[in-house]
Amino acid sequence: KRNSRFFAMLNGDDNVENETGTVRQLLAKLCKASLRATFPDDLELEPLVAICTGKFGDYQFNNAMGIWSKIKGQPGPFNKPFSVGEAIRKTLPPSDMIESTSVAGPGFVNVVLSKPWIAKRIHAMLLNGIGTWAPVLSVRRAVVDFSSPNIAKEMHVGHLRSTIIGDSLARMLEFSNVEVLRRNHVGDWGTQFGMLIEYLFEEFPNWDDAGEQAIGDLQLFYKASKKKFDEDNTFKERAQQAVVQLQGGSPNYRRAWQQICEISRREFDQVYQRLGVHLEEMGESFYSPYIPGVLHELDNKGLIQESDGARVIFLDGYNIPLIVVKSDGGFNYASTDLAALWYRINEEKAEWIIYLTDVGQSQHFEMFFSAAKRAGWLPQDGGYPKTTHIGFGLVLGSDGKRFRTRSSEVVRLADLLDEAKAQSKKQLIERGREDEWTPEELEEAAEAVGYGAVKYADLKNNRLTNYTFSFNQMLDVRGNTAVYLLYAHARICSIIRKSGKDVEELKMTGSIQLDHVNECILGIHLIQFPEIVEDAITNLLPNTLCEYLYNLSEIFTKFYSTCRVVGSEEETSRLLLCEATAVVMRQCFYLLGIKPLYKL
Ligand code: ARG
Repeated sequence: KRNSRFFAMLNGDDNVENETGTVRQLLAKLCKASLRATFPDDLELEPLVAICTGKFGDYQFNNAMGIWSKIKGQPGPFNKPFSVGEAIRKTLPPSDMIESTSVAGPGFVNVVLSKPWIAKRIHAMLLNGIGTWAPVLSVRRAVVDFSSPNIAKEMHVGHLRSTIIGDSLARMLEFSNVEVLRRNHVGDWGTQFGMLIEYLFEEFPNWDDAGEQAIGDLQLFYKASKKKFDEDNTFKERAQQAVVQLQGGSPNYRRAWQQICEISRREFDQVYQRLGVHLEEMGESFYSPYIPGVLHELDNKGLIQESDGARVIFLDGYNIPLIVVKSDGGFNYASTDLAALWYRINEEKAEWIIYLTDVGQSQHFEMFFSAAKRAGWLPQDGGYPKTTHIGFGLVLGSDGKRFRTRSSEVVRLADLLDEAKAQSKKQLIERGREDEWTPEELEEAAEAVGYGAVKYADLKNNRLTNYTFSFNQMLDVRGNTAVYLLYAHARICSIIRKSGKDVEELKMTGSIQLDHVNECILGIHLIQFPEIVEDAITNLLPNTLCEYLYNLSEIFTKFYSTCRVVGSEEETSRLLLCEATAVVMRQCFYLLGIKPLYKL
C-alpha cells in the first residue's frame, strides 16, 4: 500500500498528502528515472542524493563524476563531467517538488525545492499526524537487547547508558513501524547464585518465612556472601554444590533464587519506571534449557572442539577460542548468548538483533556472531537476519576516571536520578516557578527536566566516545542540553497560546506560505525530519537526532527573531509553522525518551 502511494506521485498524482517516503527518497526516484533515461544500458546506476553543501540548492545529485570516470574516453555525447550532470538535469521528470535545478562545476545537479511543495508537505503532516513522516525500513521485527543488569550486583552507569541508548533506538524502530522485542537479558543464572543461596540458607535459616526482609539490602548481602566465599573454602565448596542444585531444579534452591531475583527486579523496575523505559525481562535463565540442544547442533556441524578439558569453538582471526562449555562442565555467558541468538532467530523470527553493552564486550559479541555465521544461522554476506553489537564508551567523573562516588563506590542509579531531580527542582525554584505552579506541576517539571537532562547528556555524544558526567553542564539553560531544548519548546507553545488562536481550526482553514528566507530554512529543516530519523536508526546513532533537534531550535529562534508572528499579516501561516516546529520537537523528545513540557 505504501509503495503504491509512493509511485502514484511519479505518475503525476500531485496529492502531497499521499506522498510517502523521505524527501531524499522522493528525489532519488526522480534521479533514478533520469539516470535510466540518460544511460539506458547501465542498469546498475543508483541515484546519489545528498543535502546540498553549497548555497545553490537544497539537495544535490552526485552521480556525474562517478559516471564520467566510467565512460571517459568512450565515444558519445559527453566531453566532461559537467555534460553528464547537464544530461541528468535535462532528463529529470517534471515534478512539483522542484522549483529549479542547475549544474555546478564537476556535474553536481543542484535542486531547489519548491516552496509551495514544502509548505503543503508540512501542512499535510499537521493534518494527518507526525506518523505519516515515519521512515520506512526493510525490517519487520527486531530484538533490542538492552539494559540487562546482573541480579544482586549493582546496576551501574554502564547499564544506564545501555538503557538510555537502547530505549531511544527501540523508539525509533517502533516509530518506523518495526515490531520491537525489548529484551532485558538480565544476568540471573551465573555461578554467583550458589554463593548467594548458600549464604541465605546458612545465615538466615528462617528465610522462607521472613521472606525478602531477611535479605534486606541486596548489595550488602552480596558483599557479605562474597567475603565468606573468598575466605572460607568449605563454604566455597558448598556454594558450588548449590549451583548444581539450583540448575538441577531443586525446589528449595529455586525458591531462594526467585526471592533474590525478585528483590533485584523491584530495584531495577523503579529505575525503569522513573526513566519511562519499558522492557521485557528474559534473563539468562530463560535460555538455559535451550543450551544443550543448541550446542548439540553446533557439534553436529563440526564447530565444537575439545581444548584443555573445555569445549570450544575456534574462529578465524582470533587467537583464543570461544569457550562454550567450561572445563567443570558448566555453561557460560557465551553458551547462553548462542542459545539466546538461536531462539531469537528461530522462535522469535527476528530479522535484526541489536545488543547494547559497553565496548569492552565487543570481542565477545564478534566471536559469537562469527560462530553463528559458521553455523549458517546468519548469512555470510551480511543480509538478514543480522546481528549488531552497539558498543559505547565510559561515563567519567570530573577527575577523568570512571564515574564513582567519593568513597569510590559504584554510583547507585536511584541516587543519581534523585540528584538530577533535586538539582533541576532547585533551578526551577530559583526561576520563581514555585510561586507560579502547583506542587504537582513543580514535581512533574523537575522530573522531566532532571531525567531528560541525564538522557540527553548521554545521547548527544557519539556513543563510542567516553563522556564526563556533570550535573552543572547537563542543566545549563544556555548549552546544548535538554533544559535549553525543553525551554525552547515551551516558548513555542506559549507563543501559540498567547495568540489566542485555535490551532486546530487554523489547520483546517489556513495554509502555510514560505516567503521570508528564514521561513524557508525552517521549512526545509522540518521536512528533513524523516530522513534524519532514518539515518539515526540505520547507523544506530541517536546523536544524529540530537543534533537535528538542537539545530531545529536554533533555526526556529532565527525565524522568530526576524519574522513577527502574532499580529502580523502572515499570522496564520506563521502560527502553523510554530505548531509544526513544536510537533517535530515533541517527536524528537519522544524518540529520545524525554518528556516534553508545555510550559516551563
Ligand atoms: N549482563 C551483562 C552485563 O551486565 C550484559 C548482557 C548483554 N546482553 C547479552 N545478550 N549478552 O554486562
